Formats: sequence, structure tokens, C-alpha cells
Amino acid sequence: MSASKEQALKALQEACNIKDRSDSPIAKVNGLAYLVIRRPDIEQASQFFVDYGLLIDRRTTNKLYLRGKSQDHHIIILEKGSAEISRIGLTASKEDLHKLAAFYNKPIKQHEEPMGGNFVELSDPNGTTLEINCDLAPLTPLAANNLPKLWNTAKTKPRLNQPVRNRIEPKLVAKLGHTLWSVKSMPKTVHWYQDTLGFIVSDFQFLPNEPQPIVAFMRCDNGDAPSDHHTMGFGTAIELGHLHSAFEMDSFEELAVANQWMGRRDYKHGWGIGRHILGSQVFDYWRDHYGDLFEHYADGDLFDNSVPTGYHFFSGVAQHQWGPEMTAEFKGVTRPLKIAKFLIKRLPNNDDLNIRRLIRMAKAI
Ligand SMILES: [Fe+2]
Repeated sequence: MSASKEQALKALQEACNIKDRSDSPIAKVNGLAYLVIRRPDIEQASQFFVDYGLLIDRRTTNKLYLRGKSQDHHIIILEKGSAEISRIGLTASKEDLHKLAAFYNKPIKQHEEPMGGNFVELSDPNGTTLEINCDLAPLTPLAANNLPKLWNTAKTKPRLNQPVRNRIEPKLVAKLGHTLWSVKSMPKTVHWYQDTLGFIVSDFQFLPNEPQPIVAFMRCDNGDAPSDHHTMGFGTAIELGHLHSAFEMDSFEELAVANQWMGRRDYKHGWGIGRHILGSQVFDYWRDHYGDLFEHYADGDLFDNSVPTGYHFFSGVAQHQWGPEMTAEFKGVTRPLKIAKFLIKRLPNNDDLNIRRLIRMAKAI
């Protein structure tokens, strides 16, 4: 990095109007559990997730419960209703659940079957509903994707007498890893997640000469234990709400096979295959038929709570270290009418998005 860029980033860090973590959060969540997604026709909507590597595990009158291959509880719950991402499920210890319930004077509720466990419902500063859970019912882990465990390198050849034979078919995901949302106020949102749920900012991204970050990647504070680089992330974008959610896969090979399978189906490819810079994940993005964006990722970074927050400039090339250029589909600019509607509604509100910032964002990307 050039000395002048380093100096500019240092100045940004000093000017940044958002802290990196809270000294005394009310509670600390330890992971992402599930998303509750509403769709008018849940059977039809489930096809995307089945193609994307999830299995339908249980059906009730109004809900479908989908799982990955790990023993983690269900990771996507499809619920009948108008299309939206309805709730985000996070996990915490029983003690932290009680702390949140006491602080917000909220009841501790019991999940209906087959979820098991208890939860407290909270609303974040953007009105997004969170369910903070403990004791969700574990599932029996499923056999892996029948891919070779061994990889021959130029130096070591552990795979002997075992040819590789891959079928192009959905490859089971392991877990729901992170979810990213576009918000009205970055300072309000990030501070709330720090002070309430103990999130730490892993990395911020800034437009040049602006003290307010445009992106914040946040991880759980699991002390000395490793946490995914980000479990939640927030950005300033034209459309408010869900930006994307990501499922972890075991290997690059699974991700590549899944890419080919999705390419044979009737879905819009978002972006990939490439490797991100912040978080380092190998990624591949696809949109479902309702326009929501989902990511397969593998080989992401893990940080404990000793790693300090990173400060970076935002740009179209700052999101990946290799792979194709960021696509119009990923940026969401393939729907100009929808974007115009959002702008007309949003710009007079004087939140994080204004004309000047919009032009700077467009230039940066
Ligand atoms: Fe992601």
C-alpha cells in the first residue's frame, strides 16, 4: 500500500464516527441460526433452496423446515405470506437470553415443534425482527456430498487408487453463515448490534474523505474461540433490507459443482466464482425467483476477539481478489424502475443516502 493511501486510511480511522466494539454489551450472541422467509407459495419457493443444497426436513400446514448436512437445527424456515425475509434467528447462551429478556422486559417464548428451544424476540433500529435463541433441537448429521476427502498436490499424493467422480447435482450446504442488510442509519445500526448483542466490527469500508463507513462486517465475540469473519453485515445501498445471505460449503469443489448445477436451472447468476478480500471467502451468488440474493461460500476467515478492526476504502475492485468483475445483477442495477421507485421514496427522508453520497457511491463502484 502506498504511503499516501496508508495515511488517508489512518485519517479515516481517527475520524470514523462509529466505534469498533462495545466495552459492556447487554449480551453476546454466538452465531447465526436461521432465516424465516415468507413466500406466497412455499412449495414452489422451496425448489430454489433444494437446488441450492438444502433439504426439506419437515412440513406443517404453513411452514417448511429446511436443513443442511450438519447437526445444526433447521437453517431456513419457509412460511406462507407476502414475500419478505421475515426474521433472523441468532443463538446465545441461556444466561444471555435471560439478560436480554430482563433488559427489554420481553417474554422468553418457546418454539413450536420441530425447532425446540426458547427465544426472545427483539426489533433492531431498522425494524428487522430478530429471534435470539438457545437450546434449538439438534438434528442427526447427514453423510457428506460423496466427494473425495483427499486432494493430491504437487508435493503430497494422499489420494491413491481412488479416482474422482463427481455428479453435477445439488451439493448439501453445511450451515447458514452470514446475512447482510442495507440500513437507513449505519451509526445507529452498528452501535445497537455492538451494545445489545456484543458484535465486533471485523472491517469497515469507506468512501474517500467520509468519516462514516459505507459497509460494516461484524463478527460474534466468542472470546478466544474462533468466529466467522462476519455473521452479520450492514451496508448503505439504494434498496433497504436484505442484501444477501450465505451458506457455507465444505470445499471449493462442492461450490464449483453447485455453480454448474445452478447454471442448468432457471435462476439468475449473481456473481462468481471468485474470492473476496474482506473475509477471504471463495464465493458464488445466485438470485431466487423473488429477487433475493444468496451466496455459497467456502474457506472463509476465522478471527478470535483479539483481531482489531480493519479500515478500508470501498470500491468495485475492493470486494474480490480474483474472479470475474462484479456484475450488474449483483449490484442490483438490472431493475432500473424498482431502483427509481426506491430513490423517490427514500431521498427526501434525509437518512444515510443523499444525492451527493449516491454519486460518490456510483463513482466508487
Ligand atoms: Fe457474503
